[in-house]
Amino acid sequence: MVKPIRTVATIIKEISEPLPGVKVLVLEDEDRWELPPFKPGAHIDLHLDKKLIRTYSLCNAPFENNRYVLGIKREDNGRGGSRFIHECLKPGTRVDVSLPRGGMDFDLENMNIFVAGGIGITPFISVIREMENRGLTNYVLHWSSNGPASIQHMIEPAIRSGHVHISDTRYDPFPDYKAITAGYGSGAKVFCCGPEPMLKAFEAAVGSWPADRVHVERFAVARPAVDPEAKPFTVVLSQSGRQAVVEPNDSIVEILEELDANISFSCEGGICGACRTPWIEGPPVHRDRVLSPAERERDVIVCVAGCAGQRLVLDA
Ligand code: FES
Repeated sequence: MVKPIRTVATIIKEISEPLPGVKVLVLEDEDRWELPPFKPGAHIDLHLDKKLIRTYSLCNAPFENNRYVLGIKREDNGRGGSRFIHECLKPGTRVDVSLPRGGMDFDLENMNIFVAGGIGITPFISVIREMENRGLTNYVLHWSSNGPASIQHMIEPAIRSGHVHISDTRYDPFPDYKAITAGYGSGAKVFCCGPEPMLKAFEAAVGSWPADRVHVERFAVARPAVDPEAKPFTVVLSQSGRQAVVEPNDSIVEILEELDANISFSCEGGICGACRTPWIEGPPVHRDRVLSPAERERDVIVCVAGCAGQRLVLDA
């Protein structure tokens, strides 16, 4: 049987739209119980529909333990999650969410350089709120946006205190990440979240930094590169008997959707665990960053997996 995913039931307490196309959702426990704690920069999965799970950063301060706040930009050319949220969710709607995971380990003493692009500001909001709460001022935020920066009110004190540099790329030059990150000394840490072209430029600029001082957060995870040795295999759903061939270039997610498999997907990049499924025959080629070696003996993260045999039989 497919293992149930642990979720927490919440209701939408409030929805606002501080800027057209960006909604802020406040989720609470129905009876106002505390919600599971989270680290600054953490995210949760919203279980929007049986097969629609999407991951968003938590924007409130981690010490606010009775609510989760999310800032969600509508992406009409995305995979449908933000569109669903903007069109279908209303105050009072019940939404199951995952336990929070991830986070940003900012440096307590040395400088932290935060670089955000557009709605990529969201994970930094809880980090900045946490730092303010601890009285820490060893950070600077560079936030560029193609238009007005959307949820500025959430970090108003930081803006007033001069820690935030906001630029509008319609009028201002594209940020020079080498210049932004230069001169802070070897203990500094850099963090970046935004659209893929921006992340690429950022990674190129900080390529010589030690890996443990660089944290890059992606909206979407890149699909693993095609293994030149990979061979086609047949994926089989043991409960329905449905099967299909997966070619080396195929996305196994699309194949499983064609087979109408009862498997949820979220990140499609092997990091969230939403698609964890028991396997019966394989062996699978594991490419995820979720399962321990012991767990891989039984389960597979199908969104990024391959198969070393001719058949990958899933208990689904
Ligand atoms: S969908 Fe996130 S790990 Fe597979």
